[in-house]
Amino acid sequence: MSITMQQTMAVIRKFAPNFTPKIGIILGSGLSMVAEELTHPITIPYQAIPGIHASSVVGHASLLLLGYLQDIPVVCLKGRLHLYEGASYESLCTLIRIVRQLGASELIVTGAVGSLKPEVGHGEVVLLNDHINFQPGNPLVGINDESIGPRFLSLENAYDEELRGIFLRVATQLNIPVHQGVYISLLGPSFETPAEIRAYRMLGADVVGMAVVPDVIIARHCGLRVTGVCAVTNLAVGLSPERVTHEATLHYGEIAARKLVKLIPAFVKEVGLAI
Ligand code: HPA
Repeated sequence: MSITMQQTMAVIRKFAPNFTPKIGIILGSGLSMVAEELTHPITIPYQAIPGIHASSVVGHASLLLLGYLQDIPVVCLKGRLHLYEGASYESLCTLIRIVRQLGASELIVTGAVGSLKPEVGHGEVVLLNDHINFQPGNPLVGINDESIGPRFLSLENAYDEELRGIFLRVATQLNIPVHQGVYISLLGPSFETPAEIRAYRMLGADVVGMAVVPDVIIARHCGLRVTGVCAVTNLAVGLSPERVTHEATLHYGEIAARKLVKLIPAFVKEVGLAI
């Protein structure tokens, strides 16, 4: 039997009958310390949510948290679903549509990335201004539910320009340098070859990762405004003598995460008070 959104929401509403978040936040690899800033959290393991298969990757805790950041009600997805784990687009859609169904209008998508720019090294923060979808498919393939969003979705302003402006202003106030760039999304789980990285640079990509883009497409489809912000954990393969490993991405992700722990709550406050 296929699980409907109504069944999914009924389970979430048992945990939190009246909670209405303004903003959703997806936390990628090594970025879960942002969730520790939440006050009065209600915790729902993904396993308890019908229609979602939990993440198996080290560094992903797989919890849906409802709580407050700087007194703004938020829903936090701690641990994302990756296609390389075998997660389906259906699960991904369910998870992100929960954010919208709960009442949020904004989504902050975070992730660990490799940098294609030698001058933007590990520990740096990159605000996304566009993407290139190199995933094998699109989460919107199939029958379209018009009550959720349009059949042919525009991705022209996928990473909302107004929100980018607010994010950059907050970063300046906090004196935290933030770069901007284009994310190229690959299936993984193998890292890229040096030749692939050279090709992606020529295509116009600035950072590379194995997530983000499906989340952003689903979010835009259901009407969430998106901010994408990434933690550089390494220089992409071939740009540095250091080997790229998952352990290294977790380690260096923490350095950038410390910046995001300051940036995201301040940004949430600014946006939360404005909407
Ligand atoms: N490639 C792909 N995904 C990544 C990388 C990388 O170099 N670093 C962190 N996530």
